[in-house]
This record gives sequence, C-alpha cells and structure tokens, in this order.
Amino acid sequence: MYSLKEQEAIIARAICNLKFVKEPAGLYEPLEYMMSIGGKRIRPRLCLAAYNLYSDDIGDNIISPALALEIFHNFTLLHDDLMDKSDMRRGNPTVHKKWNENTAILSGDTMLIIAYQLFNQGIRNEEAWTAFIDATLGVCEGQQYDIDFETRNDVTEAEYMEMIRMKTSLLLGYALKIGALLGGANKEDVEHLYTFGEKMGLAFQLQDDWLDVYGDPKTFKKKLGGDIVDNKKTFMLINAYQRADETQKAELDRWIQTPKGSDEDKITAVTHIYNILGIGELALQKIEELFAESLKSLDQVQVAEEKKTELRVFANKLLGRKY
Ligand code: IPE
Ligand code: IPE
Ligand code: MG
Ligand code: MG
Ligand code: MG
Repeated sequence: MYSLKEQEAIIARAICNLKFVKEPAGLYEPLEYMMSIGGKRIRPRLCLAAYNLYSDDIGDNIISPALALEIFHNFTLLHDDLMDKSDMRRGNPTVHKKWNENTAILSGDTMLIIAYQLFNQGIRNEEAWTAFIDATLGVCEGQQYDIDFETRNDVTEAEYMEMIRMKTSLLLGYALKIGALLGGANKEDVEHLYTFGEKMGLAFQLQDDWLDVYGDPKTFKKKLGGDIVDNKKTFMLINAYQRADETQKAELDRWIQTPKGSDEDKITAVTHIYNILGIGELALQKIEELFAESLKSLDQVQVAEEKKTELRVFANKLLGRKY
C-alpha cells in the first residue's frame, strides 16, 4: 500500500508525463494549459486510492483510467466556465478568457474524447466501462439541471441535492468504484466505496458553494460571488428564502430580477441577508453532517483499518480545504 503522499506523487507524475498532440496548436495548447495550472486532482487520487486498497500493482491498468477521470473533469470545467461566465480558474484566466469561447468549446470537446481514449487504453473491464459512461453522462445531466435552475424560483432543497449529486457526486463516487473494481474488490466493498464518494461529493459541492460566498479571496483561486451573480439555486439561497421574512424575500426577489451590471452590490446585499439569517453556519453544519455520513460508509469497507486511514485523512483534508 502506498501512502497518500506517494499516491499524490504518482498522479502528479502521470499528469506531467501526459503528451498531447501538438497541432493544431489552437486546439491542444488550451488543453496543456488547463492540465498544467494545477487543481487538487481529487478524482484520479480517489480512483488510485480505492484501487490501492486491493492491489499494489500500479501500472497503466489503473493510471490510464485515473487520468481519464481527471481529463474528463477538466473538460467539464472548460464548458462550465463558459456556462457560468467565470473569468478565473485555479488562480488563472479561464480558457474562454485567455483564448475565446470557440476554443473553450472545441478544446473541451477534445478533452472529452481524449478521456474516453485514455480510459479505453487502460482497461477492458465491462463494469468499469459502464461506470465511466454512467458517471460522465450523469455529470452533463446534472449540469443541465444547474442551468435550468438559474431561471426557476421554486427549486427545492431536495432538487438541489439531486442536481449536485449528478453534477459532482457521481464522478467522485464512480472514481472510487472504478478503482475498487479494477483492484478486485468484492461487490459490497465496491458499493460502500461508491456511497462514501457520493456522500463526500455532496459535502464537497455544498462546500464549493459555501466557499463561493465565504471563501478567502487570497486562497480561493476563483472569483467570489459568481453563484450569487448567476442566480444559482444553491442550498444557501434556497434556505435563505425559507428563513427570510417578507421584506427580506422581496429584497432577494429584487436582486434576482436585477439585470447584470451591479454585480458587486448584488453580492454584498445577498451575502448580508445570508449573514443575518445564519445561512453560512447552516451550510457548514450540513457539510459536516454529510462528511460524517460519508465516513460511515467507509467504515463498512472490509479491508484492514490502517489501509482505510489514508482515505479518512484524504476526506478530512478535503473538509478543511480553502479552494
Ligand atoms: C471544481 O472541482 C468543480 C466542482 C465540482 C466543485 P474541483 O474543486 O475538484 O476543481 P480542481 O480540479 O481542484 O481545480
Ligand atoms: C460545477 O459546479 C460542477 C461541474 C460539474 C463542473 P460549479 O460551477 O460550482 O464549479 P466551479 O465553482 O465553477 O468550480
Ligand atoms: Mg457551474
Ligand atoms: Mg462554475
Ligand atoms: Mg462553484
């Protein structure tokens, strides 16, 4: 079994060694750029960590699918930044800002294809393939709900949770599932690891939404307040409506209907309402609950305790993340 640090280094090295085609440069440079500006590499690390619970034989069979997950994730980010009109990613300009919108679309599409190509290169495991397809299709479905919700004002917390389950949790859950399947885990373990990732993914997205409002601009690496500007129906906005009195509801309505242009005032005003209503604390509570639940699924995985420690530490580090 490799330590977390060693697993991190294995993934970092594999990403560094990725060679993309060079021409046309307009297509491949943005890919290289995106893969080189960092990121936490959570998905390939989870995939490798799950595999490593069962096997120490680390070769192309696990590295290729792990990298495929990261490249797929980066494809979603290229398109997500376009959809969310985000200018900053990982502390750097987004691809559609640095190049243009067409580049973000086509280089993004290319990353999706490369992800499938890499996955194919690594494995011939039918169950893992089905998992990869379910995960990647589900993310797109979740992203569509996210966009649909921007213009709806009756989104419930349950709908929000289901949307983030699709856009974010699926990929974390399936990353673990694929690693476990390829490592040779039994059926029960595969499912427990999936649920561990699914719950952790819910907490992770809630935390992403919390950071979007309350993150420290020095460490967050994305522009704060984007979700408020886009009228994203986050757990926080939905609960603010639940807790608001008539005056606060009217003010929230007014900001939601305000056309773009007074972004900073909108962010300040909506955040102020969140503060009065204790929405930040409410979200943090929910995040902790979900993380704790996720760890219970990990408890049920039938491998030696000391092996599972690595994944526990990983989850705890995520809980304290600043970006
Ligand atoms: C960002 O994912 C998109 C979400 C699902 C919240 P990450 O927070 O994993 O982004 P990077 O890869 O570390 O930049
Ligand atoms: C995106 O959620 C999740 C994806 C599937 C890409 P967000 O839109 O909140 O992610 P960030 O904040 O831009 O990273
Ligand atoms: Mg988005
Ligand atoms: Mg976004
Ligand atoms: Mg976000």
